[in-house]
Amino acid sequence: MSTTRRTVIATAAAAGLTAAAAGGAQAHRGGSGSAPRREPFGSLADGTKVERWTISRGGTRIKVLSYGGIVQSLELPDRTGRYANVSLGFDSLDPYVSDSPYFGALIGRFGNRIAKGKFTLDGTEYTLPVNDGPNSLHGGDKGFDKRVWNVTPNGPASLVLTYTSPDGEMGYPGTLDVKVTYTLTASGAFQIDYEATTDAPTVANLTSHIYFNLAGEGSGGIYDHRLGIAATRFTPVNDTLIPTGELAPVAGTPFDFRQPKPIGRDIRESHEQVLYGQGFDHNFVLDKGITGKPEQAATLYDPLSGRRMDIATTEPGLQFYSGNFLDGTLTGTSGKVYRQGDALCLETQHFPDSPNQPDFPSTVLRPGKTYRSTTLHTFGTR
Ligand code: GLA
Repeated sequence: MSTTRRTVIATAAAAGLTAAAAGGAQAHRGGSGSAPRREPFGSLADGTKVERWTISRGGTRIKVLSYGGIVQSLELPDRTGRYANVSLGFDSLDPYVSDSPYFGALIGRFGNRIAKGKFTLDGTEYTLPVNDGPNSLHGGDKGFDKRVWNVTPNGPASLVLTYTSPDGEMGYPGTLDVKVTYTLTASGAFQIDYEATTDAPTVANLTSHIYFNLAGEGSGGIYDHRLGIAATRFTPVNDTLIPTGELAPVAGTPFDFRQPKPIGRDIRESHEQVLYGQGFDHNFVLDKGITGKPEQAATLYDPLSGRRMDIATTEPGLQFYSGNFLDGTLTGTSGKVYRQGDALCLETQHFPDSPNQPDFPSTVLRPGKTYRSTTLHTFGTR
């Protein structure tokens, strides 16, 4: 067995994947990584300076902003060794502040929607900013995606990002101390570890909002990407994209990704849920549930470039968003306009609106407990 083949299987095993899931893939070369680089990336209106950090290892290179913890660029080789940035974003700070639909950002305190911006915890009702129709989305209008994080290098290919969210910020109770670690493993897998503690009972649901296009950002649509999701059920939504509370079988619906299929195959089905989402914008109930170590959640493959990505997570849910609201009004990193379906997001998370849904896994965090979550992106080519 070649070294590269061994590496991919070892990585897959670490992620709880089977060798078959990593099937036939070429892994990237190992390596110890070079020292993280830091450079200026503009300043905010109040003069706060924003920095961009670069880490690389095992054939993967990522650039991370202190603003929003944003993954501004994620570069990977294709099957012929040619590199491309496979994540949507901008080449300067201003559009991230004014126009970004969460490109590459860390999301908190609560990923996805909370119905009508209200929830009750221990008998007290809390009100959050409503920023998506009648609902509160991704932590409110100034969530973690719009905060400046403290970034420190953590060895050759790892960065620690910290942010303290004051009590009452965006309506949420408790001071939340958040630590997110971005690491490139020896084989170039991108691992995200989330940790948070609070000084008063609160809710938390952290995720990453990278928009992937494995053929390269600005290269066109992702409808030919083949996506597999390890979920037998999903959470149907109402017309404002709030879960109804039901866990519905994917069998016989466009939401059946148990066997990988092209994203575009069923996206034009006139199914009520597809119409509500204007495509896919749904939480999948991962079959493994909450796990102690990352378990396989999704696999993505672009036949054109040969790039592939496996996602493993400890989270019970995965929001698959097919870039439905990209509407040709934003110019991306390489100067190309982004249109509907030009990228997809795979957001590992607890289920949307959990604070209002007693039957969903709990998102309550209490003092003395530590919120922990890990997601691993393993890359390769085929
Ligand atoms: C998530 C939501 C979508 C949309 C995007 C950002 O994926 O579920 O509805 O808000 O973020 O545009």
